Amino acid sequence: MENLTILTTLCMCIVLLMVKNTAAATCPTGDCVAYDISTQAICLEVSNKPSTSDCRWAAGLNINVDQVILNGSIVAYKIQWFSGLWSGWYVPGVNDIDGKYNPSNSTCSVPYNENTIRRVWAYFYDHTHSYIICKNL
Ligand SMILES: *[C@@H]1O[C@H](CO)[C@@H](O)[C@H](O)[C@H]1NC(C)=O
Ligand SMILES: *[C@@H]1O[C@H](CO)[C@@H](O)[C@H](O)[C@H]1NC(C)=O
Repeated sequence: MENLTILTTLCMCIVLLMVKNTAAATCPTGDCVAYDISTQAICLEVSNKPSTSDCRWAAGLNINVDQVILNGSIVAYKIQWFSGLWSGWYVPGVNDIDGKYNPSNSTCSVPYNENTIRRVWAYFYDHTHSYIICKNL
């Protein structure tokens, strides 16, 4: 009876050692989070997208248009001006209020009125552009 207990304990120790070694093998530095973090967003860069002819990009300061149109969150973007030069990085909600406004009412599927402020991504309508987008798959 006692032998069986010792044997059981020994087996458990071996199993624990194997589990520990597997963890060590997948985490050589030993400081990895043990929980599943795979639900976080995956980000990728999309370069040189042609103009979209999509009026929704100009629909005011709505910060969710990217979610509605692209099913993801644009974290930074650039515009290629008609001169061929590229803008610097714009970050939605940080530095992307356009210096121009919407001068007239629109019947866009996301409607907007005259004299409304918009984001620089309004130029996705008629300019080539690049962006980094993050999506939850
Ligand atoms: C966004 O998701 C909708 C619904 O799942 C789908 O119909 C559409 O094609 C997606 N658009 C993009 C750009 O991924
Ligand atoms: C634009 O829409 C607003 C609000 O609906 C309205 O008050 C205004 O008269 C419209 N402007 C023009 C030029 O139609």
